[in-house]
Amino acid sequence: MGKDTVTITDNRSGRQVELPLLAATQGPYALDIGRFFSELGYFTYDPGFLSTASCNSALTYLDGAEGVLQYRGYPIEQLAEHSNFLEVAYLMLYGELPNRGQQENFNTIITHHSMLNEALKSFFHGFYHDAHPMAIMVGVVGSLSAFYHDSTDITNERHREIAAHRMIAKMPSIAAASYKHSIGEPQVYPDNSLSYTGNLLNMMFSVPCEAYAIDPVAEKALDLIFILHIDHEQNASTSTVRLAGSSGANPFACIASGIAALWGPAHGGANEAVLDMLDEIGEVKNIPTFLARAKDKNDPFRLMGFGHRVYKNYDPRARIIRSMCHEVLEKLGDANDPRFELALRLEEIALQDEYFIERKLYPNVDFYSGVIYKALGIPRNMFTVMFAIARTVGWVAQWMEMIAEDNQRIGRPRQLYVGHGPRDYRPMDQR
Ligand code: CMC
Repeated sequence: MGKDTVTITDNRSGRQVELPLLAATQGPYALDIGRFFSELGYFTYDPGFLSTASCNSALTYLDGAEGVLQYRGYPIEQLAEHSNFLEVAYLMLYGELPNRGQQENFNTIITHHSMLNEALKSFFHGFYHDAHPMAIMVGVVGSLSAFYHDSTDITNERHREIAAHRMIAKMPSIAAASYKHSIGEPQVYPDNSLSYTGNLLNMMFSVPCEAYAIDPVAEKALDLIFILHIDHEQNASTSTVRLAGSSGANPFACIASGIAALWGPAHGGANEAVLDMLDEIGEVKNIPTFLARAKDKNDPFRLMGFGHRVYKNYDPRARIIRSMCHEVLEKLGDANDPRFELALRLEEIALQDEYFIERKLYPNVDFYSGVIYKALGIPRNMFTVMFAIARTVGWVAQWMEMIAEDNQRIGRPRQLYVGHGPRDYRPMDQR
């Protein structure tokens, strides 16, 4: 038996297969099961992908047991403290932190791709006024594929780069326009003199009839939250983008599929669901009732913002947001928001509860982000949209990484078939 292999014995037939172990630079090695079916005639079965590495990636590293998150090897804590969203975006796309010239050039490119084609305006008007902004995002981002289809040759590295720039640049404009449509206000054009998050705030909250001053606290807080949300390894939405992209589909359509996957409450929709939950709980005295419901297997209620597939420790992003909450709420004069107090008490009580301790359920990134978004004046139905703007960087970086692979193949899982055996068609009068 080779050193870096694992030998599997089939107890039914006595056959053995020796499978190579693939080395990781950090974290668990992966067993290469590509020959499993041809050698043993079995599929492997892992619904929910609990033990399955679906690709190679050099972007993000997570250690769920230790609560570690790194982008391109840099700890999230250091990036959150010293960097900014566009610098981290550059790091994710190009692999290294930029020098001053590279950063200035990148910022200029992103700034100058932020306008939307005027024809796109009519797409927003096609939505009913109360459409959820995430629904609009799925539709409008998908529609970009119609605007940039012929000019996007995914086999051309430069075309892929331009598509990535366009997506990162246009996402705030689409997000803000979705919001403006939902409240019946005119769309605001991007302003090239503003920062990425300043521009977003301006497009969301300014109106033509009066001056709007961007709050620097909000601008900075949003930039930090965006850094925390940039990428998170092979989560549901990223895997969706990769799977859609593996067929060679237009990248804008792939990102739209990622937005759809992000929307669910088990994923990016949790930040909105957390505030709904805090409102439902209402007061500290009601916490035990809701904890009991979260533990009751016959009750679908779950503690939103708690638990994570990978983190079996405190989510490092939640730790950063939690400490930022104090500072931001203080500065924005929202320090007495009862929801923050309630969230702190809920966390404290849950973390002492045997059910949560046993299952290693800790607050995740979404537990506190909603409280901050609310303090920043972001409407609740825009919380997941904020997540989507930031995660676009991760999605495009993952998509580019995948397309650039030498032996990139279409993603095509198999299944454990549990349906009927073969049977004969019977004419209707014999059924
Ligand atoms: N409240 C109560 N019980 C929970 C919770 C929760 N939030 N999360 C997990 N559990 C229980 C679950 O019932 C199961 O118990 P048992 O072993 O007795 O059956 C055990 O903990 C393991 O949970 P799981 O459902 O097998 O774990 P998963 O990895 O499939 O799901 C999760 C992960 C994030 C979907 C889940 O923890 C959850 O639904 N949390 C609430 C939603 C949420 O906050 N999502 C945001 C995730 S972070 C940001 C992002 O990914 O976008």
